Amino acid sequence: MKDIFFRENIFEILNYLEEGIQIIDEKGKILYFNKSVQNLDELDRDKTIGRHILEVYPSLSYDTSTLIRVMETGKPIYNAEQSFVNYKGDRITTVNTSIPIKEKGRIKGAIEISTDITNVKKLSEKIVDLQKELYKDKEKPRKNKEKARYTFVDIIGQNSSMIKLKAMALRASRTSSPVLIYGETGTGKELLVQSIHNASGRKNDHFIAQNCAALPANLLEGILFGTVKGGFTGAEDRPGLFELANGGTLFLDEINSMPLELQAKMLRVLQDGSIRRLGSTKTVDVDVRIITATNTEPDKAMEEKLIRKDLFYRLSVINLEIPPLRERIDDIPVLVEYFIDKYNEKLNTSVKDISNEALNVFNKYSWPGNVRELEHVIQGILSIEETDIIKEKHLPSQFVDFIEKSTVNKEEIQPLNKAVEELEKQIIFSGLNKTNWNITKTAELILVPRQTLQYKIKKYGLKEKK
Ligand SMILES: Nc1ncnc2c1ncn2[C@@H]1O[C@H](COP(=O)(O)OP(=O)(O)OP(=O)(O)O)[C@@H](O)[C@H]1O
Ligand SMILES: [Mg+2]
Repeated sequence: MKDIFFRENIFEILNYLEEGIQIIDEKGKILYFNKSVQNLDELDRDKTIGRHILEVYPSLSYDTSTLIRVMETGKPIYNAEQSFVNYKGDRITTVNTSIPIKEKGRIKGAIEISTDITNVKKLSEKIVDLQKELYKDKEKPRKNKEKARYTFVDIIGQNSSMIKLKAMALRASRTSSPVLIYGETGTGKELLVQSIHNASGRKNDHFIAQNCAALPANLLEGILFGTVKGGFTGAEDRPGLFELANGGTLFLDEINSMPLELQAKMLRVLQDGSIRRLGSTKTVDVDVRIITATNTEPDKAMEEKLIRKDLFYRLSVINLEIPPLRERIDDIPVLVEYFIDKYNEKLNTSVKDISNEALNVFNKYSWPGNVRELEHVIQGILSIEETDIIKEKHLPSQFVDFIEKSTVNKEEIQPLNKAVEELEKQIIFSGLNKTNWNITKTAELILVPRQTLQYKIKKYGLKEKK
């Protein structure tokens, strides 16, 4: 009888339930979910097991997640309605019963049973969608549809500001308001932009990205707005990116590099919702969601007259800032683990972990290239080193200074008397600090005669820092 109920069997059975079952541990990390949850929430098992529930469900919070609430209060919740947005941007409403899992009175996690009540709504919406599809403009340029690959689940990070940022971005994806993203190079701006598009109602339409720094000014203008034949020498009849992205998202990267005259034209598009091809007198209405990114601080860019103020305010209806990696070092271990897994698979290596010393070096480093730099470092090590564990000695040259600093005292051999003096100095100094520079008390504390102490303070030139 016992055999029939061993764990694997139970988990197998849970997959046939129509209700969703989800289990988290005491830290809020997802331990298990059954097929229903997987299908409903569009979860990728490999990417979500072991991650914090709020990281995977950025539209939920400590207050609205029934699982978290149960874990914090230790009290079950019955039939509570919960609404969230999954990574595909669908709003899901479920009715949940959540129960804490306890062991010897201590809370070890929580389990939740949820029933989807979005289905009826979804079906009716589907009928409307199908009708719309029937009457859709057949000439839509679907052939060269540009793809946005990433979704929010690809953004790794448990740092609280990253979780907040993801929640904000997910909310932003439900609107068509312009979004401006600021972040240093390699912080994941492109990742975030694509995720927003893929969670938005425009996900089945074009996602077009253009780097404003990549082209000379006049070419960029033609590319964005399109041209008409004879408009200027050699020009052809060609739609611009605004027209091609119609119905979808246009991502303008490095907006701070766009020439100011072109920025004035952009402003007009945002105000009127229409564009005019170069050399044409006709205006064309466009429905494009505009996302821009800058890797210089917006305030600075305006001060230095790289971005027009009026354009900035139009573009930054929603303003998202991705913090640099050095300001979220708590994300470094998770990212390292993620990239180790990623490149183990790609390079067919079997690195297991990183040593604490190497991780310490990472924590001290300033990461000018941010997450991209970290990814390249891990990729590089896995490509050339044959090791199980990434250690300090495997780190590339940019880390040398940080390694030397932390080991110089350990490894430099000095004459014994010098080392003893150094140690003596340190002990006296900390004794003095502890007693507020009271000589008698310090002498008692470190067990030396008062005169000796006074002599040594003089000898080492110790002085109280005010
Ligand atoms: N939070 C993250 N989780 C996983 N991968 C990330 C994350 N942030 C960045 N990356 C990875 O780092 C690399 C750089 O990211 P991305 O291209 O989005 O940066 P960026 O901010 O657009 O940089 P740039 O300003 O140089 O264009 C990519 O390979 C991306 O997959
Ligand atoms: Mg980029």
